[in-house]
Amino acid sequence: MQDKSYLMIPGPTPVPPRVMAAMSRPMTGHRSEEFAALLERLEERLGTLFGTENPVFILTNSGTGGLETAIANTVSPGDRVLALVTGNFGERFANIARAYGATVVEAASPWGEPVDLAEVGRLLAREDFKCVLATHNETSTGVANDIAGIGRLVAGSDALLLVDGVSSIGGMEIRVDEWGVDILGTASQKAFMLPPGLAFVSVSEKAWARVEQNRSPRFYFSLPAHRKSLLNRNTAYTPAVSLFYGLEAALDMIFTEGPANVYQRHILLGRAVRSAVRAMGLATLAGDAWASPTVTAICAPDSVAADDIRQDLRNLWGVVLAGGQGGLKGKIWRMAHMGFAGQMDVLTGIGALEMALYRKGYPVSLGRGLAAAEKVFLEVE
Ligand SMILES: Cc1ncc(COP(=O)(O)O)c(C=O)c1O
Repeated sequence: MQDKSYLMIPGPTPVPPRVMAAMSRPMTGHRSEEFAALLERLEERLGTLFGTENPVFILTNSGTGGLETAIANTVSPGDRVLALVTGNFGERFANIARAYGATVVEAASPWGEPVDLAEVGRLLAREDFKCVLATHNETSTGVANDIAGIGRLVAGSDALLLVDGVSSIGGMEIRVDEWGVDILGTASQKAFMLPPGLAFVSVSEKAWARVEQNRSPRFYFSLPAHRKSLLNRNTAYTPAVSLFYGLEAALDMIFTEGPANVYQRHILLGRAVRSAVRAMGLATLAGDAWASPTVTAICAPDSVAADDIRQDLRNLWGVVLAGGQGGLKGKIWRMAHMGFAGQMDVLTGIGALEMALYRKGYPVSLGRGLAAAEKVFLEVE
């Protein structure tokens, strides 16, 4: 069927019809009482989802803009910053800090492995950093990092903990205040089930002290400007009004299901995909102990061209997977199971992958991956 497609990339992700419908409402002025009331409702729910008493800023820019907001407001030229890098997005976060003049010390893990907490402890004991940068969910490798553990280590220092939660929040649990996250940035187009265009950023009291002394230039990304507007139940600049409508519908869905159930659903989908992958004779890049609940990186066997398989998946059945990034280009497939994703999406993705591999002569027993995923689902009924 020409038009039917199954988008399984780690963002943008499918948008539920309810959210699409909410976004088609007539425009309202962003300085109206109606918009101020909407903003207030969104604030309350985002705070609950983030696990923070502090405001969560809703910014009209992509996730990278949210992360740049974190850096621009806390990093001054010459600051020493510790970047915990577990893949492509960890590198990007470090590069934003470099762009603002930081001297970055990288603690890098091999791609597919998580942050090494012992190494972080050693580095923090050795010197004082202004900020520590961490990625909650490394989308390029399908690795989830232990933010609570990192937070405990950073809490013993003067450093601020800045976290990239772009592909985790809405699909994985976060407790910003309890885990000691000073700034958390995430975006709309992944587990939040919205189109791209919004970033959500929380800021701790500890971070505000730094924000006020910070010497980096900032305008659109100025947190003091955003704070001043939010105190007036407003946004600093014209917001993406339609996405705000959609956000309310998406949050309705998350809170109707219940955040804890949403997180369990993502964990289950991840388990089913990994089980299916192994039943097909393939490997996942990340070990089970740190595998992401929102996206799985599947290692392509040497005997098949990974990107040809992706093309077949898309052309024959409309199934869209992501490829590898950086050094993993052509070596992995990334199958997302985040946001508006359920058990049948996993069966579709796995079934299609089995067929694509079979057609290319890879020795896969048709149905084995599907059976493994189905078993995972049936066991928890
Ligand atoms: C972990 C992570 N960080 C940052 C980004 C960048 O976000 P955006 O593309 O919304 O700027 C992404 C996007 O894929 C991501 O997955």
